[in-house]
Amino acid sequence: MSFKNFKVVEKLIFGRGSFNQLDEVLAAQRKSADDFVVFVVDDVHRGKPLEGRIPLKAQDLLLWVNVDDEPTTEQVDGLTAEVQAFNGKLPVSVIGLGGGSTMDLAKAVSLMLTNPGGSAMYQGWDLIKNPAVHHVGIPTVSGTGAEASRTAVLCGPERKLGLNSDYTVFDQIIMDSELIDGVPTDQWFYTGMDCYIHCVESLEGTFLNEFARAYAEKAMDLCREVYLGDHPEKDDKLMMASFMGGMSIAYSQVGACHAVSYGLSYVLGYHHGIGNCIAFDVLDEFYPEGVAEFRQMLKKHNITLPKNICKDLPDDTIAAMVKVTKSMGPLWANVYGEGWQEKVTDEMLTALFRRI
Ligand SMILES: NC(=O)c1ccc[n+]([C@@H]2O[C@H](COP(=O)([O-])OP(=O)(O)OC[C@H]3O[C@@H](n4cnc5c(N)ncnc54)[C@H](O)[C@@H]3O)[C@@H](O)[C@H]2O)c1
Ligand SMILES: [Fe+2]
Repeated sequence: MSFKNFKVVEKLIFGRGSFNQLDEVLAAQRKSADDFVVFVVDDVHRGKPLEGRIPLKAQDLLLWVNVDDEPTTEQVDGLTAEVQAFNGKLPVSVIGLGGGSTMDLAKAVSLMLTNPGGSAMYQGWDLIKNPAVHHVGIPTVSGTGAEASRTAVLCGPERKLGLNSDYTVFDQIIMDSELIDGVPTDQWFYTGMDCYIHCVESLEGTFLNEFARAYAEKAMDLCREVYLGDHPEKDDKLMMASFMGGMSIAYSQVGACHAVSYGLSYVLGYHHGIGNCIAFDVLDEFYPEGVAEFRQMLKKHNITLPKNICKDLPDDTIAAMVKVTKSMGPLWANVYGEGWQEKVTDEMLTALFRRI
């Protein structure tokens, strides 16, 4: 048996207002006067007070990114080319300021600046050859755990798959819960539920171990305080939950909800957070307690999920989703353990999708 050798984020700052320390963090990377940094920023922050707080110097590059659609390999290659056209030198740091989508874009750009060819070539596991440019993740919506993970999830020409490697992991993260203050309720809920679902899938999975359990149990308690209680420090709690949920699945695995959600999102284009919520709502048989508690959370925050999405879809559309979902081997191995192949049948998955 071989155990995972997990690369963790090397440096992190946690605290309200800690975004103000970004300038100082970058100063340590800037060695000569013409060293420049690249800021990859969610355009939702354009024209908002946060824009004025970005420690941008005259020689730096600010790239606004739109995340109405989830990140693509094409978008990453375009951004990388923009950086290369801006300055023949490599930047000394790439900063991702936004949600999971923006952080993944920044991770991917930092990798593609030092690895030749297009990013689609590197979708998979440990295909990246060269270390990335120093990169910093700063979440402005919490739940995905992208700040803690070794992947940058991209939609490519053939599939949605991450650039998974030790080099993908951020060198530095800044967790400033003031930054997640203005997220609209629906989005706050969907992205936060990604974290709650990570915990359920990790704790209910066959890959569970004390490392993953320690993080998932605490992250789940924090999610309960945030989504069932009404805690004044809920933003700090959610930000910490997201990180810990990410740490938990990094040393275990996600499960049935993510497998179904990938099928939904690949074929129908649902974003990760809402896709997970839609999928989780039909997974009573897999996660009875988790789903019951999730419904309490839905109710408390008056969230209405889309219903009957798949009921009347053509058979071949359902078959396409079933195919993607079925291909998530490690996730099903986590759900059922050895022999999962016999349990994950087309009939079982088709019936599941028809209930969505
Ligand atoms: N790398 C990983 O480990 C990992 C894990 C899970 C999911 N993901 C990826 O993350 C993405 C989903 O990320 P997400 O759920 O964090 O959402 P997101 O980054 O896609 O953002 C969702 C929405 O919230 C907006 N937003 C962000 N910050 C805001 C703020 N402070 N105020 C108001 N609006 C704000 C964005 O503009 C966007 O409209 C997917 O692409 C998914 O594949 C990555
Ligand atoms: Fe997730």
